[in-house]
Amino acid sequence: MGFGRGKVILLGEHAVVHGFPAIAVGIDRGVTAEATIGRADLLRLAPWGLTIQPDPHGSEPLERAFAAVLATYPERPPLRIDAQVELPAGAGLGCSAAIGVAVLDAIDAALGVQRSREALGAAALVWEQVFHGNPSGVDNTMSAVGGVALFRRGQPLEPLYSNKPLHLVIGCTEEPSSTKEMVASVARQLREEPKRVEGAFEAIESLVRNAKVAIETGDHVGLGQLLDLNHTILSSLMLCTTKLDAMCRAARAAGALGAKMTGAGGGGCMFALAPKPEEARRIRDVLGQGAFIAEVSP
Ligand code: PMV
Repeated sequence: MGFGRGKVILLGEHAVVHGFPAIAVGIDRGVTAEATIGRADLLRLAPWGLTIQPDPHGSEPLERAFAAVLATYPERPPLRIDAQVELPAGAGLGCSAAIGVAVLDAIDAALGVQRSREALGAAALVWEQVFHGNPSGVDNTMSAVGGVALFRRGQPLEPLYSNKPLHLVIGCTEEPSSTKEMVASVARQLREEPKRVEGAFEAIESLVRNAKVAIETGDHVGLGQLLDLNHTILSSLMLCTTKLDAMCRAARAAGALGAKMTGAGGGGCMFALAPKPEEARRIRDVLGQGAFIAEVSP
């Protein structure tokens, strides 16, 4: 059985595409997949009822992504892969990367290929590249490896440790978000107003550096403040929606130490940091349908 986790970027999304560091966590919710030797290559995605055939020139990104992954196995029999997706798609939780990691992991298991989780995550970049042209690699890496880590493009992942778990509550706006469009919008702003956008990235980097210390020392009050500040900077890059802002405010009013959008933005999900499990449950109830708790141990 293959597995790819969903991920939550705690701080640093978008800046990470341009070489700045981000901190992300892997969550237990994700995608499972099983590969069996079949008559033809086929990928079935439940609960969406989708059946995909690989096609490097197909009109559907899933057809091209499946073909790109299969091409990384030089000699193999035809494979039928059944995947079960338990993440919302296009919501900033790394659903596409989790599918890619689960599919590769399942194929590895069926063919007896052995590799580290880091190497599995790196191999899934070919899948992610189909969905948006310039992925930082944070989604596929965290999907494979999990835990809490500082990620910087092209550098080894730096796991963070602490004896204090993070009580996260994830809320979904139900507004669809396109990573490709949001990444392109930030790139356009960077081209047109380099000083403003580079300033935003540098400010995000200092929040990430402080957040690393706050996580390692268990200072969740400090971490919450850093999350709020990161949300404001992402807002200045026009990545937040009225609904994302309202949900973050509601979470703070219900006792969250901090709250911010996560992932590409322009819709999708937000998350809140709760001080304890009781508050996490209260915040989940306030955030409404689709909200869920993720406890993560650094
Ligand atoms: O919304 P998601 O899950 O696709 O996350 C995207 C994270 C970005 O930093 C916006 C893009 C990237 O490649 O890192």
